[in-house]
Amino acid sequence: MNIVVFGGSGLIGDGFLQECLRADDVTRVVAVGRTRLDLTHPKLSQVLHADFLDLAPVRSDLAGADACFWALGVSSAGMDPEDYERITYGYTTAAAQTLHDVNPHLTFVYVSGGGTDSTERGRMRWARVKGRTENAVISTFSHGYALRPGFVLPSHEARSKTAAYRWGGAAVTPLVPLLKLLRLGPVLTTDTARLGRAALHLARRGHHRRVLENRDINTAAAL
Ligand SMILES: NC(=O)c1ccc[n+]([C@@H]2O[C@H](COP(=O)([O-])OP(=O)(O)OC[C@H]3O[C@@H](n4cnc5c(N)ncnc54)[C@H](OP(=O)(O)O)[C@@H]3O)[C@@H](O)[C@H]2O)c1
Repeated sequence: MNIVVFGGSGLIGDGFLQECLRADDVTRVVAVGRTRLDLTHPKLSQVLHADFLDLAPVRSDLAGADACFWALGVSSAGMDPEDYERITYGYTTAAAQTLHDVNPHLTFVYVSGGGTDSTERGRMRWARVKGRTENAVISTFSHGYALRPGFVLPSHEARSKTAAYRWGGAAVTPLVPLLKLLRLGPVLTTDTARLGRAALHLARRGHHRRVLENRDINTAAAL
């Protein structure tokens, strides 16, 4: 498989990259981002790009892609609503359109997050915007999926660039044994390796669900 990863310089994108690079059936990984990665591997090509509303200049780098794993994103905390919408919905759907032109049968895996609002009508603005983005991805691709992780723990060296997620992870880590005891671990937490393995499972075999909640992610990762 030939896989394109967006957001590879962040926590979850790094997990996607690490798992793709170690998978025998992945022959090429193209990491598209605005920041150069401190990572080299014979399978990895890096593409630096600035304007994520227009991917036409990197279209040739996307040729031959079988799947796209999308971890480019921001927390809405303290962010201008228009900027949040542009990055969350605008960037994702612009890339989805270009990738659909390149390969309409592509598997697109979008990382949204627990609490995302598929109805697009709820009270939380961020959840509506992520819901609209999920819905767009799912309607663009017959193999379009959304992953809704809860707390994401790092399996590799990368840490989230988003402070809110770093604090959330740090707060939850000491509670992991307790959550396990209460059988809440699989429902509330996952880690970057499992997210990577779940995305690879979707690219290889698909899934009967188009939206995978935290528990579904952990189950898919183990298949
Ligand atoms: N971490 C969690 O616990 C968690 C839980 C649920 C959902 N999520 C969601 O998962 C996604 C990724 O989270 P994460 O923790 O991996 O985030 P992260 O570590 O902050 O990484 C974000 C990635 O998005 C890129 N990015 C952000 N703003 C950009 C912009 N304006 N233009 C281009 N690239 C931009 C960053 O690139 P640069 O390196 O160039 O900044 C980085 O590659 C987010 O949508 C987040 O809401 C995360």
